[in-house]
Amino acid sequence: MHNRYRTHTCGQLRTSDIGREVKLAGWVHYYRDFGNLVFIDLRDREGLTQLVFDIDLCGAVAHEEARKMRSEWVVNITGVVTPRDANKVNPKLGTGEIEVRVKSVEVLSISPTPPFTPAEHETINEEKRLQYRFLDLRRHEMQETLRTRYRVTKLMRDYLGDRGFWEIETPFLTKSTPEGARDFLVPSRLVPGSFYALPQSPQLFKQLLMVGGCDKYMQIVRCFRDEDPRADRQAEFTQLDVEMSFIDVADIIRIMEGLLRTIWKDVLNLEVPDPIRQMDYDEAMTRYGSDRPDLRYGMELHDIGDLGRQTDFAVFKNAPMVKALCVPGGAKMTRKETDALAEWSKGFGAKGLAVTKVTATGLDTGVAKFLAPIAEKLIERLGAKEGDLLCFAADKPKIVHKVLGELRLKLAKDLQLAASTQFAWVWVINFPLFEYDETEKRFSSTHHPFTAPLDADLPKLDSREREVVESIKSKAYDIVCNGSEVGGGSIRIHRMEIQQKLFSLLGIDDASQKSKFGFLLDALQFGAPPHGCIALGLDRLVMTLRGISNIRDVIAFPKTQSGSDLMCGSPSPLDEKQLREANIRVLLPPAKVV
Ligand code: AMO
Ligand code: AMP
Repeated sequence: MHNRYRTHTCGQLRTSDIGREVKLAGWVHYYRDFGNLVFIDLRDREGLTQLVFDIDLCGAVAHEEARKMRSEWVVNITGVVTPRDANKVNPKLGTGEIEVRVKSVEVLSISPTPPFTPAEHETINEEKRLQYRFLDLRRHEMQETLRTRYRVTKLMRDYLGDRGFWEIETPFLTKSTPEGARDFLVPSRLVPGSFYALPQSPQLFKQLLMVGGCDKYMQIVRCFRDEDPRADRQAEFTQLDVEMSFIDVADIIRIMEGLLRTIWKDVLNLEVPDPIRQMDYDEAMTRYGSDRPDLRYGMELHDIGDLGRQTDFAVFKNAPMVKALCVPGGAKMTRKETDALAEWSKGFGAKGLAVTKVTATGLDTGVAKFLAPIAEKLIERLGAKEGDLLCFAADKPKIVHKVLGELRLKLAKDLQLAASTQFAWVWVINFPLFEYDETEKRFSSTHHPFTAPLDADLPKLDSREREVVESIKSKAYDIVCNGSEVGGGSIRIHRMEIQQKLFSLLGIDDASQKSKFGFLLDALQFGAPPHGCIALGLDRLVMTLRGISNIRDVIAFPKTQSGSDLMCGSPSPLDEKQLREANIRVLLPPAKVV
């Protein structure tokens, strides 16, 4: 690149450029003043180059300018590439064998001492980083993440484009699409009292594109869900949304695995298994207590209900389900630590957490005294060794799986069982179609209400018996990597009468079906092709690729836990005029943004 400001980037020059006159522009990353010699590391997106201001070469004026320069000033130089002295070579830098001896300099922007510099991010709290995001983005880490993110989206477009997918935009000002979260609402000025919903996903539009004969669709698209942000969840996030006609689950899995393989190869030069293993939802819950099992380590859940009944321990004897987890090396934990685990378990609905330790001679401490009659069998079933800790949960299956599933994740993290460089992939398939909501006393969709049941389970849609309805399995699947749900999808219902049956099972009466989903039912009536596919969470994919645990670190301008943008200060109150135009009356004074 040659223009008024630069001939090269700050990461580009090598020994082969020695002798060349170059122009560079960038930020002052680091400076050292040795009197007649001033050294400055100049930084841009591509790297660092060491500049030398030697009064004999650049002259007194430029030298004086250099002595005034401070962190994060923006400067433009012309100079000559020269080799560094052998003892000054920096092998960690691509440009570490050369330096640029400056002939002339122009300061393009000055800066007061910034709240933090890209060199010292470790010590900066996140709030400050988010408040001054434009400074935070200058950090190498952040830039590399954005580079990866761009690369991934480019690979997605290329891979799918080559296979006949069209990127088609779907509206943001739309009607509610249920994905299980609350909608963000936008008031209509032209239709007073009416609201648009921002899409939780383009689900219905992509289905309508299939009915519209578009055959293969993809979109890298923002989705909006008004739910509490978490480490892997933002209210505003990005999906690679894909839909195809005339396909089956196997076709979708094949094409998406190909995409993941391409991304992992290109970004990390790593192979993704071919094929990725598949696991039934029921098996994932039974063995790992989770529908997104982290398979980087074992520590499986073992059913010991039969053994529990052979003891006199009331907790085990009378429970509908008893399961155990063997924690390798966990016997090191103190009584205080295991008590804390039990307390922590209660947060997931456990009534308690029974523990015991494995010694050379059998079981010791905790509930060991109750387990004497079954100790040997227990140790054998769990494959336990001396020095291990055994944890037990006894309750209804839902609680046992939740508690031990969460405990498994927590202990693996505490004991550092998973290497961050490892990738364990699995498709979780055959999800249940419905979940029963105990508080609302009704069924809700596990995935979304447009997901098709397995063909064999179609007749069960006419039942209203809880056990029967709960046993309906669906053509829904998730792709999971290292315990993170990277994507989820399904084959959709393409026949109107089946969609209507499903709506009525969900308690949506005919009138609501018409008002909420009339357009969908209409479309299904006029010749809908069999269709389906998936959406991958782009943010989570980039987190997984780069081993990042905080979703805010993969988004250029993210929101805090309370949904605020600390840099521009949103959300913020509106003035009276704007409210009037939007036909909105505010009932509460605005809360302070945090
Ligand atoms: P689903 O709701 O499973 O499916 O979303 C697909 C993927 O999007 C990611 N994701 C999120 N990422 C960050 N923050 C969030 N709040 C968030 N919510 C979801 C996850 C998830 O696997 N329309 C269907 C897809 C389909 O059926 O084709 C859908 O949206 O990685
Ligand atoms: P208790 O007999 O209630 O004092 O409980 C004895 C031990 O069993 C304690 O360590 C409790 O934490 C544990 N415990 C109690 N209820 C359960 C349960 N439902 N599942 C597993 N352990 C339990």
